[in-house]
Amino acid sequence: MTLKITPLDAPLGAIVSGWQPSQALSTKHYASVKQALAQYHLLVFRGHQQPTDQQLVQFASKFGNLIKGSKWFGDVDQIPEILRVNNLLDDAGVPEGTGASTSLEWHADYSYVPTVGKESFLEAVKIPAVNPPQTCFCSQYSAFERLPEATKKLLRPLRAYHSITNYPAASAMNAMNQSAAEADEIRAGFKAKQKRNQQQGIKRTDIPVAEHPVVIRHPDTGREILYVSKGITRQILGLPEEESSDLLKELAAISTAPDYVYAHDWQQGDMVVFDTLGTLHRRDAWDPSAARVMRQLSSLWTPEAAAS
Ligand SMILES: [Fe+2]
Repeated sequence: MTLKITPLDAPLGAIVSGWQPSQALSTKHYASVKQALAQYHLLVFRGHQQPTDQQLVQFASKFGNLIKGSKWFGDVDQIPEILRVNNLLDDAGVPEGTGASTSLEWHADYSYVPTVGKESFLEAVKIPAVNPPQTCFCSQYSAFERLPEATKKLLRPLRAYHSITNYPAASAMNAMNQSAAEADEIRAGFKAKQKRNQQQGIKRTDIPVAEHPVVIRHPDTGREILYVSKGITRQILGLPEEESSDLLKELAAISTAPDYVYAHDWQQGDMVVFDTLGTLHRRDAWDPSAARVMRQLSSLWTPEAAAS
């Protein structure tokens, strides 16, 4: 297997061709992927044969321990490491995966738990033929670098509170092209899943909130990252609420300034591997009657363990 890595003409990202999912990633190939990830923060693997679930788990496991994503989202799945990000419903109207076609606000995966996402692996199994939603990415290394020195100094000792509570509902309300009735339908899907899980005695893991430093050092690159997002970070601790709110808005505007955003147009089969700590991402809404099917895995990291 020969991997070819070509930078995108964008603020971040590169295309990787030549991946063969049936072959285990050698130490040499793993090193070149990690090096490219440190440089470009986002890698679009394209043109390969579709990996099986097991091959996806095998590939992602090279990067570290994996988060059991489907358990977090209350799904019933043979492979807990794979989160089914899709809007499919079973015959009883229960979502088979995450169950929404809404937009999602800027976030870093799993920042709302103590053990956060380090790398994400997001693979497009099926995308809508008409108006497929884009996923947008920005670099939080670059965002931190662009801050005035005084702001960097202010932020370094601070911590922030992250929570996913009400996140899907809030996204449903804000979704582009979606009426209140459609948002209600999405909530009904979540309720149906809760009811199904109750009936089957499946306990959804409680979703805790988490506190993390506002500025973290990436465990691989050693570089500083601004670790707050518009979608999940609720408050900077130790600041009056209004001051925290204003600062979070200001930071969000800097992070997601259009000149620094890469908008990914998905091709079926793409697998985007991204530095979850060092980037933020958001996605567009899509027509709920069209199926969009993705598989997502995440490696994990504990900021607290690194600090102690
Ligand atoms: Fe995400």
